Formats: sequence, C-alpha cells, structure tokens
Amino acid sequence: MNIGARGSAVGAIGAAFVCLVAAGAAQTSAPVAENVYLNVQVLKGIPVDQFNDTMGMFASALLLDCVGCHDAKITSDPKAFALPTPRIQRARQMVVMMNALNKQYFGGQPRVTCFTCHHGETQPERSPSLRLQYGELVTDPTAFRFFPDVAAPPAEKMLARYLQALGGVERLSTITSFVGTGTYLGFETSDQEVPFEIYARAPDQRAMIARDGAKEFLWIYTGTSAWRYQPDTPIPLIELTGWSLSGSRIDTMTFFPAVLPKAFTEWQVGYADIDGTSVEVARALGPGQSPVNLHFDEAGLLVRLVRWVETAAGPVPVQIDYSDYRDVAGVKMPFGLLITWTNGQSTITLKEIRPNVVIPDSHFARPNVPAASLK
Ligand code: HEC
Ligand code: HEC
Repeated sequence: MNIGARGSAVGAIGAAFVCLVAAGAAQTSAPVAENVYLNVQVLKGIPVDQFNDTMGMFASALLLDCVGCHDAKITSDPKAFALPTPRIQRARQMVVMMNALNKQYFGGQPRVTCFTCHHGETQPERSPSLRLQYGELVTDPTAFRFFPDVAAPPAEKMLARYLQALGGVERLSTITSFVGTGTYLGFETSDQEVPFEIYARAPDQRAMIARDGAKEFLWIYTGTSAWRYQPDTPIPLIELTGWSLSGSRIDTMTFFPAVLPKAFTEWQVGYADIDGTSVEVARALGPGQSPVNLHFDEAGLLVRLVRWVETAAGPVPVQIDYSDYRDVAGVKMPFGLLITWTNGQSTITLKEIRPNVVIPDSHFARPNVPAASLK
C-alpha cells in the first residue's frame, strides 16, 4: 500500500470538483443519479449523495484519485466524468461481479465490497502475508467490524463519565443553542483558512457556513432533512439520504450530548487504538442508522466519532476528531473538529462560542438555490 498515493488522492479529488461549473435545470429533491448524470450504466436507482459516496469508495478502496479512473479533462469540464476509459469499463464490470457475488453467496447483503478485495491496491494481492501472520496485530479504528470486549466498562458508565466531564447533565441542559465563529479549511477552499460560522439549536438542528470570498459553502441539518451546498460543482445542492441523513443528526446531537444515552437502542463496548493510545469505545446501534463508534479519552471526553455512510459498493467511514475542549458557560465544548471521509478532510477551528443565542428558523431551512443537473 502506497501512503503517498493516499495523500494525493484526497487533494486531486478536491481539485477536480472545485473548478467545475454548475448547470441549471429544476430537479425534485433527492433525484437518482441517472437523472442528473450523463452516462450511468450500473449504479442506477441510488440518490446522488450515495452515488458520489460510491465514487469515494472506489477512490479509497483502490487508492486512486478521480483522474485515476476518469478522463483528465474532468478538471475543466464536468461532462468529462461521463467519458469512457479502460478503468471505468473495468470498474463497471467489477460492480456487476460484486453484486452477483453478494446476491448469490451472501443473501443479497453487501458483504463483498470493492475494499474486501482491493484493500487500497489496484491489483489485489493473491498470496497471504507472512508479515501479517507473524507481526503485531494493529486494529483500525475506522474498521466497520467491531470486537466487543467484556473487560470494557458498560456504555452507561462511559456516557455518564463523559457527561460529567463536560460539566454534568444539569449544566448541559442549560445550553439550548449556540453560535460559533472561527475558521474552516478543506478541499473546497483549496486548503485555505476561510471564515466559518456554526449555528446550533437543541436537540438536533445545525447550520454550518464557510465563506470563501463571495462563495458560501453550507451544511444544513433541519431536524428532518440534510443538505450540502457546494457552489461551482456539477450538482451544487445535494440532499443527504440514508445513513448520511441520520449521520447528520448524530453529528448535531454531539453538540447537545445529554441526549446521546437515549438516542440509540443498543450499545456495545470495547477498546481501540488512536495514535498508539488505547481509548474506550462505545458503539451505538439503532434501527435505520449506521453504527456509531464513540471514542473516549482518559479524562472521559469524546475524542473521536466514527460512523459510516452507505454506498452502492459498501459502507465508507466518516470520522470526526474533537479537540481543544474549552469552558463555555460552565460546560466544556470542543473548539477543534477534524472531519475525515473518503472524499476529503475538513478542519474547523472555533475561536468563539456564544451560548443561548436566539437563531432565526430560516438558518435551518433548505438552502434557497435551484437544483441542478448535467443533463
Ligand atoms: C475505480 C474507478 C473510479 C474512480 C476512482 C472514480 N470513479 Fe467516478 N465513475 C466510475 C464509473 C465506473 C462510473 C460509471 C458508473 C455507471 O456507469 O453506473 C463513474 C461515474 C462518475 C460520474 C458520473 C458521470 C456522468 O455524467 O455519467 C461522476 C460525476 C463521477 N464518476 C465522479 C467521480 C469523482 C468525483 C471521483 C473522485 C472522488 C470518481 N468519480 C472516482 C469509476 C470511478
Ligand atoms: C472479488 C474480488 C474483487 C472485488 C469485490 C472487486 N475487485 Fe476489482 N479487481 C479484482 C481483481 C483480482 C482485479 C485484477 C487485478 C490484476 O490485474 O491483478 C481487479 C481489477 C480492478 C480494476 C483494474 C485495475 C487496474 O489494474 O487498472 C479496477 C478499476 C477495479 N478492479 C475496480 C473495482 C471496483 C470499483 C470494485 C467495487 C465495485 C471492485 N473492483 C471489486 C478483484 C476484485
């Protein structure tokens, strides 16, 4: 596996999408991919957000950037994503093969994914590894598999300790909204820091805005629907569906964490390794949503959340690292957020959080922009 390739994958994915120009044309909410893209042959019937996350799975599973499969013209022309290349033809065959394997041998469950075989390589290894067999076992905190550990404290204890470390349930319940300001850095902003605002209202509404000159990037969770707005991309406004939608709710709830213990139906516990340090993990499960792994440090604080989003080729991870906990009205809140997923990485650095600000409803509404299509 080539780590250098991983770094360039993320950069080039961003670059490819940033300099594209949007096309107009009205669409209903959450359209399927073949209705907005030009040449969808096998990944049919899935919403656009899941189609895009499937591209993230492809890139991540083979450690390729978008131009690893797509024509180099994508950097200047969004319609070039539809051009055939040998790798795209091969990848289409792979989708058909993967679906057939899952259908025939795994009861239609998405058990075999691109990553199952590829593991970050274009040409999967066929001979087992002696280094793996005789070397030290290293666990990956973003692995979908989870090995519960009976030695770990019960989830109720981890959560109670966490809420206590933040200031206690009573104090937490006094904060019902906040406005945070700071900076955002991500592939959309070409890795430049730009002004950032977050508006949040208990229990589950959130709007985040990054302003790059005249451009606004938006991430909205209204309490029932979720939207991602990214100007200058082929499909600037994307409605989030499935595990991305429920995941937006989960991310929002971590800002008002007193609700977390009751938000899930089942918990498992274990340990994970973050940068060589063992941390306690509570994995939350609930119907219709992705498993969520909450990682707590020595002080009991939430340092990492890992959840997954579905794609047409298996689940891909989303990881949020929380840092720089500071006191806000007697409650500890994280001022640093690092969000990592298969299509990019975003760094949010808050400078100020003002608690209990009245926020107009209009902040938590669907962005008022027309839907787009390449067709
Ligand atoms: C492993 C190869 C591979 C990689 C890497 C890859 N794609 Fe794709 N992409 C495909 C295939 C295959 C299709 C066609 C899917 C189909 O026919 O259903 C496609 C189709 C698309 C389309 C639809 C084009 C149209 O108008 O029909 C877009 C947009 C797209 N990819 C974006 C991306 C982006 C952005 C990335 C980088 C994150 C990416 N792809 C990485 C293989 C790849
Ligand atoms: C059952 C195992 C398996 C699965 C699942 C699988 N692949 Fe493959 N894939 C292979 C093998 C084996 C090759 C041939 C590699 C070689 O030539 O050595 C290959 C080759 C490829 C290639 C050509 C790579 C090159 O050398 O240019 C692409 C692209 C590809 N796969 C994409 C995908 C995508 C996308 C998925 C998920 C939809 C996927 N594969 C799922 C086993 C798999």
